[in-house]
Amino acid sequence: MNSPTELHTDWSAAAITERRNTYYAASQSRFVPFQEPIIFKRGSMQYLWDVDDRKFTDLLGMNVCISVGHSHPRVVAAAVQQAQELTHCTTMFYHPAPAHLAEELAATLPNSSQWVVHFTNSGAEAIDLAMTMARGYTGNLDLLALRTAYHGPTSAAQSVTGIASWRHSGLPGNVAFVADPNQYRGIFGEGTDAYLDEIDRTIATATSGRIAGMLIESIQGYGGVVEMPEGYLAGAAERVRAAGGLYIADEVQSGFGRTGDHYWGFQAHDVVPDIIVCAKGMGNGFPIAAVISKREVAAPMAEKFMFHTYGANPTSCAAARAVLQVIEDEKLQDNSRQVGAALLERLNDLQIRYDSIGDVRGRGLMLAIELVKDRNTKEPDKAVAAAVFEKCREQGLILSKSGPSQSCLRMVPPMCLDMSDVDAVGDGLDAAFASL
Ligand SMILES: Cc1ncc(COP(=O)(O)O)c(C=O)c1O
Repeated sequence: MNSPTELHTDWSAAAITERRNTYYAASQSRFVPFQEPIIFKRGSMQYLWDVDDRKFTDLLGMNVCISVGHSHPRVVAAAVQQAQELTHCTTMFYHPAPAHLAEELAATLPNSSQWVVHFTNSGAEAIDLAMTMARGYTGNLDLLALRTAYHGPTSAAQSVTGIASWRHSGLPGNVAFVADPNQYRGIFGEGTDAYLDEIDRTIATATSGRIAGMLIESIQGYGGVVEMPEGYLAGAAERVRAAGGLYIADEVQSGFGRTGDHYWGFQAHDVVPDIIVCAKGMGNGFPIAAVISKREVAAPMAEKFMFHTYGANPTSCAAARAVLQVIEDEKLQDNSRQVGAALLERLNDLQIRYDSIGDVRGRGLMLAIELVKDRNTKEPDKAVAAAVFEKCREQGLILSKSGPSQSCLRMVPPMCLDMSDVDAVGDGLDAAFASL
């Protein structure tokens, strides 16, 4: 048998670029954040090393997938052990790993016995399934979503994504968008009531009056770490349910303890969703996602088949089981709260010193700074965000340019980010701003 090292692999930037340019579809090559490509060779916990062995702190958590640390030894060991025994087993056949994981996920939720789990491969597939489930259960077609939401790349997930740069042509319809209750730059200003009234108005004018549900990220991720204000989630759920719909919580970025105070983002709001979508950090880099729904919401789907070939893949499930254990054993939710608070303090300090920082926000290890041309007009400053982003690379920091205008620098590192990293991150950001 060939060992992986026998696969011919050319690590040079020129060769990778040439192969990508020749063989990648245009749809896969556009989303490249840095001006010059970056080639990562290895990772350990919150750190990455590039092909020249330069060390970086991964404040992006490889797109929020790395929850407990790059190549976390316990997660890798669990996956390797399972892969060596039986790499794949579809849900047509019985295997204990996914069944255990379903039970363990349900146990993270209030009244655990009311929840059931359907595993998929990716967050977008899970969003897609949640939409099908909500439409089937309610018998209604129309869905609501927020204008700066990102829910994924499948056609269905794009159709509920409000950011134009992620929406391609030919998307399915029956989706109405409502204004984000963004407390920094929302169209109705601060507060919650006007945004809730907008939900009622939208149901009355842009839908049939009866809806299947509303998808909401408890804290918007790609939208620029936009927190739902107090009272919004409960108020939205109430209005949506009154119109016959379900409250679908997209916890793809905000779940698994990242927000520090709670395991799930919605738990900060005293409301329980009907459907929860999770992915990314669930597998710490292994592809796995899930729709967790109230038992009765999933029940009508028993009338037909629904099969995701890799959905309950035991290797990914073994990894995810280890992730849940590591979050608990290593107290990563607590760590997110404490380290996130210390990092937030450094970001607030930067805002005092750099006028281009219009807003600093977030909770736990889900933070962002928003760059503006003018603090009064709040005009987004994409150019400065891009410049700081590039300078951060020189400081050994990987961040994310986010938000509909790409004017936010988002920080969603592995939850093992340490207090000892906070100064390095704060100093690196400081140096990046100072060098502009
Ligand atoms: C909030 C949210 N929902 C859904 C998705 C889609 O997940 P995936 O990329 O695994 O399909 C993403 C991905 O970035 C996301 O951030």
